[in-house]
Amino acid sequence: MAIVISGKDLAHEKREYMKNQVVELEKKYGRKPKLVVILVGDNPASVSYVSGKEKACIEIGITNETIRLSSDTTEEELLKIIDRLNNDSQVDGILTQLPLPKQINEDAVINAINPEKDVDGFHPQNVAALFLKQPGTTPCTPKGILEVLDSVNIPIEGKKCVVVGRSNIVGLPVSKLMLDRNATVTIAHSRTKDLASVTKEADILIAAVGKPLFIKENMVKDGAVVIDVGVNRNPETGKLCGDVDFENVKDKASYITKVPGGIGPMTITCLMENTIECFIKHMEEK
Ligand code: GUN
Repeated sequence: MAIVISGKDLAHEKREYMKNQVVELEKKYGRKPKLVVILVGDNPASVSYVSGKEKACIEIGITNETIRLSSDTTEEELLKIIDRLNNDSQVDGILTQLPLPKQINEDAVINAINPEKDVDGFHPQNVAALFLKQPGTTPCTPKGILEVLDSVNIPIEGKKCVVVGRSNIVGLPVSKLMLDRNATVTIAHSRTKDLASVTKEADILIAAVGKPLFIKENMVKDGAVVIDVGVNRNPETGKLCGDVDFENVKDKASYITKVPGGIGPMTITCLMENTIECFIKHMEEK
């Protein structure tokens, strides 16, 4: 049986540290960091993510405002709000929960957020910074994955890492972070031929495909480290589940993360970390 790496425990430890950090920052700068989250519509997954972010802010002491907008909000209305927040000196971080309703162009929204307040690390300037190894905000989930691996001292240099999924939010940025740590990285996806033969090569397998219980035992090498980034509903039970069939894979892996309690809590914790980092830069620039 693999060792289960608890992102939840690691997140708890990091949040304890950040609580104290925020107290010290308030003494130094006269106010706390502030994160504004914009939620358009009532997509149940988004509502749940946003509530997790609000809870984390309260726990750590970050000032939080959630702007809830109706699902028929226009792009122009949303861009106006972002412009106001960009120019509000009391706001350090802005996050628009994705996906957005059809009438709103997501790229236009991502591009409109001031890169220095872009706590998601989705703005093209921050994406370029990641790919050029320049200072910028690193996306939360990829950052959380590296922290989870480092928390149990998984060696990365020289290892074969297979990332299943090529999204802007997870697959692409985590591949770059693993490359920066000298892993040999393969990005696999829905059109990869004979996927199992590719994933079976992985010393570190990162599943970010968004397909419930997709990764089975026959796709995993003996002793591999398996990181599950999926957040899905089990079609049979309706319960939250990952991209990895945990019960099926757990005896083959050396280390594994679970859903829930794995990468998810670390994503939100890294969002808090990014907010604090943006706040410090903001204050230092004044
Ligand atoms: N939707 C799913 N994941 C994310 C995320 O990390 N950030 C934002 N803004 N929206 C998301």
